[in-house]
Amino acid sequence: MEKKDVIIVTDPGVDDAMAIMYAIFCEQLNIKLLTIAGGNGPISNAVNNALYLMELFKKDIPVAVGLDHPLNRPPVYATKAQGKGGLGGVKVNPKRLSKKPIEKSACDAMYEILKNSKKKIPIISIAPMTPIAEMLMKYPDSKNYISEIDFMGGTKEKIVGKPYREFNISFDPESVEIVLKSGIPMVMIPMELGHFAYLDKNDIKRFKKTNKIGRIYAKMFKKYKDFHVGHLGAAVHDVCTIYFLTNPHCIKTENGFIELKYYQEENDNYGYIDTSYDKKPNCSVAVDMDISDFKYDLFLTLEKTNEIL
Ligand code: RIB
Ligand code: CA
Repeated sequence: MEKKDVIIVTDPGVDDAMAIMYAIFCEQLNIKLLTIAGGNGPISNAVNNALYLMELFKKDIPVAVGLDHPLNRPPVYATKAQGKGGLGGVKVNPKRLSKKPIEKSACDAMYEILKNSKKKIPIISIAPMTPIAEMLMKYPDSKNYISEIDFMGGTKEKIVGKPYREFNISFDPESVEIVLKSGIPMVMIPMELGHFAYLDKNDIKRFKKTNKIGRIYAKMFKKYKDFHVGHLGAAVHDVCTIYFLTNPHCIKTENGFIELKYYQEENDNYGYIDTSYDKKPNCSVAVDMDISDFKYDLFLTLEKTNEIL
């Protein structure tokens, strides 16, 4: 089967790392570029973690560096959830990395790939949307070369009545506004799916038992604090976004209208995505998924990493 060309915007990140493993070994995607954004940690951590994964998987996917901050607000990194280095219990020593990021900036590298591609290609965004917004501002015609943006972001969950903050949106809401205004077809994989599909302790034991890669990922989970569902397991937000592209029939979607709004009160001000179903739709919103099929596919893909061991 012909592989689908994609660009991935990522801020590795434990669940990003799992999404990258899945995207590489699922055999349906041809990753043209990993565009690194700040978010789960400072951009230097995210770049080192992406390069570490390329060496671990013996792949030469180009890694391009994006802006190290949101468009116009100070960065508030998610190091609490992802661990100091960004990969939970796995510490990457930058001095031991042999691979380097490409010279071109993320926005220039993305634009070049999009412009030279024979057909429109999807961007998978599993991080803040800063690099995409930067490219749309610098190269307004870039929107004509993107088939859709599948993004992990947003949630309809509420916390004590106020709209629940989701990190990829609240880290850089101004970028989200620019991307939504572009009119590019959007697919939203909200936080609820990563919670539905969480990996429980047995799943993590199975990672360990599968192979060396599984043991490395189990080590990532050790310090990964994005445990939800009552601390029953590890949320896998970003993987669900890749899974949508490889198994769209396993994720239920509804057509909705999404817009970026700001929640403001005296000591709180953040951007969030408001989803409604009574206006002209502008987004396909994922609302449910087949968890057993997802986990079956995830472990099958983990076993495929044996080919590089
Ligand atoms: O809210 C979850 C998102 O924030 C995921 O992409 C995770 O990696 C963090 O970036
Ligand atoms: Ca992420």
